[in-house]
Parts: sequence; C-alpha cells; structure tokens
Amino acid sequence: MKKGSRILVTGGAGMIGSNLVARLISMGHEVTVIDNLWRGSIDNLKYTCKENFEKVNVIIADLSVPGDWYLAFKEIDCVYHLADIVAGIGYVFSNEGYLFRKNLLINSLVTQVVASFDIKRYIYVGTACSFPKELQTGVDAAPLKEADQFPASPESAYGWSKLMGELDATYLAKEKNMETVVLSLHNVYGTPCDYKSPKSQVIPSLINRAVFTKNKKISVWGDGSQGRAFIHVSDVVEGLISALSRGGNSGAIQLGPNICTSIAEIAETICDIVDESIVIEYDTTKPTGDHGRRADYTKAKQVLGWEPKMDLKNGLTDIVSYVKKNGEGI
Ligand SMILES: NC(=O)c1ccc[n+]([C@@H]2O[C@H](COP(=O)([O-])OP(=O)(O)OC[C@H]3O[C@@H](n4cnc5c(N)ncnc54)[C@H](O)[C@@H]3O)[C@@H](O)[C@H]2O)c1
Repeated sequence: MKKGSRILVTGGAGMIGSNLVARLISMGHEVTVIDNLWRGSIDNLKYTCKENFEKVNVIIADLSVPGDWYLAFKEIDCVYHLADIVAGIGYVFSNEGYLFRKNLLINSLVTQVVASFDIKRYIYVGTACSFPKELQTGVDAAPLKEADQFPASPESAYGWSKLMGELDATYLAKEKNMETVVLSLHNVYGTPCDYKSPKSQVIPSLINRAVFTKNKKISVWGDGSQGRAFIHVSDVVEGLISALSRGGNSGAIQLGPNICTSIAEIAETICDIVDESIVIEYDTTKPTGDHGRRADYTKAKQVLGWEPKMDLKNGLTDIVSYVKKNGEGI
C-alpha cells in the first residue's frame, strides 16, 4: 500500500487496534477507526498515537447494528477488521450465546459492507481459539499448523464465532476477486490494556491482582498447568503491517511463538517483577479454557517474513509499569 492510503480499522480503539493505528499514522496513511468502545477507549488511542491522535478519524458506532457507519467504508483502500467481543475466559464462558450472536452479526455486517464497495484489501484478525480443542492438550502440545484447523471443533463460542469470520473473509475473496488476509493470533498481551474489569484477559488481570494485592496473595484460575503461546502486541503489529502487501488469499496464517508458557510460570514471573513475597494460590473451581497450545509459525515466516521478537519478561515488566502508572486497580 502506498503512503497516504485510506485505511479503516474496526476495533481501532482496542489493545491491538490502537497500536496498529499509531503505526499506520506514523507511516503516513489516512486512518479511520470505527469502535463502539465496548472494551476499547479513546484514551487507548491517545496513549499510542500521542501527538498524532488528532490525525485519526474516529467514528463511534456499533458494528453489530446496521447504520450510517457503512458510509465510512466508501473510498477506503484497505480494511483491517479487529472489532469483536473478546475478553478473558470468565466473561467468555459466562456469555457464550450473546458473544456468539454478537460476533456473527459484527462479522457478517462488516463483510457485507466490504463486499459492497471497491475495497482492494481486507485483513481479518482471527484467533488460535478457533483450532480444535483436541489439539490443545497442554504446554507440550505439538505446535499447531494451519492445516490443523479443520475438521473444526473449537472449545468456545468465541472460537467458533471467530472461525465463521474467517470463512466470511475467504468467501469474500472468491466473490469479489479481491485480496483478503486471515491472521490467526495466539494470546496477545501488551499495553494499553483493560486490567481491572471483568472483561480483562489473564496477563493484565494477574498483574492487577499482584500490583494491588492487599494481603500479599494472588489467586490464579485452575491449577496453573494450562498454558498459552503469548505474543506481544508489538510483534502482532509487525505481522499486521506485513499483511498490507503480503499474505493475500493464502488461507489462515498463525502469528504466535512455538513456546507455550504455563499460567503458573506467568504468575511467578509477575510476582518476581512486582514483589517476590506474594503467595500464589490456585483456584481449581474456576474455568481454564484449552489446556495449552503453541504455534508452528513456519507459514508466517515464509509468507509474511514474520518472527516473534519480544522477550516475555520485558513485555510483562512493561505492563506492570503501565498498571502502576494508571492505578485504581482490583
Ligand atoms: N487479545 C488477544 O489475545 C487476541 C487473540 C487472538 C485474536 N484476537 C483478536 O484481535 C482483535 C482485537 O483484539 P484486542 O485484544 O485488541 O481486543 P479489544 O477488546 O481491545 O479490541 C476489540 C475492539 O472492538 C471493539 N468492539 C467490540 N464490539 C464492537 C461493536 N459491536 N462495534 C464496534 N466495535 C466493537 C471494542 O470496543 C474494542 O475496542 C479481535 O478481533 C480479537 O478476536 C485477540
């Protein structure tokens, strides 16, 4: 995409979206964000874009409901679709029906609108949660390959809803003879992040509990043996930027490391950073989701020239500083 391209980012006020928008603006593109601020915020965009914030065209709209927002897609060169209901497993497993319907509505409407305009490129952000649960057996599970996605059997409504979005993107490519890119992200962490609401994900939530603990204890859901392939948002943005010119119509491409880190190790590292004397308690009555997965990112390397770079401990230290600075946790 040449400098000055018109790029629309749905969910651009979220954790990943706000980092992507900052990068696109710094590359000289014209960026429009559509977000209903369900979990994102204008402050996220101010945090990432800094003095460039005024250059971002922000539209507050609910993409699950038809509305005037569709006009913003006119004369757009590329759409990144990141808006969806995404949250920690507590929220996901307590709201499966709502989440499934909402994400289907958002994804269907966005793809329908993309199909109705002359948009050159559509980049859909999917998730490793869409991979079959049988393959997500623990920290030593064989690295997932893209070909493993089918036959499909995701663990959660979230994984199913995101998989439907992938199919929508794939059909769009055939229907419109346009380029679509499908990126399947593993567990993304970084700043800015939601760390104190019931929607927050595991890393920010654990950091919140560790930084603001009143009794030098933190509670971890499950026995801690469950793991994820954590990937820093800066690495994800590199993959998203590469997708502006590469990876079109080549099926899902995973972005994630081939290392699965247990939640116990994450909690211990956070305590090392925050306060070594904090005691970790494991609550096995709480849901944990899939047992563990990691990525074989050979395809991302070949197709996008992508590799993960950020060291996990450095990434966690950065979030601890963010949470301490922003305060008012728990
Ligand atoms: N964070 C992860 O670990 C992870 C992993 C895999 C895939 N993803 C995918 O990446 C994308 C971005 O995730 P994120 O971590 O930045 O989450 P996020 O919640 O920070 O960003 C999603 C954004 O979508 C917005 N949104 C939700 N419903 C909307 C609606 N009806 N209309 C308009 N906007 C709406 C939210 O307000 C939020 O700003 C999502 O599609 C998610 O499924 C995230």
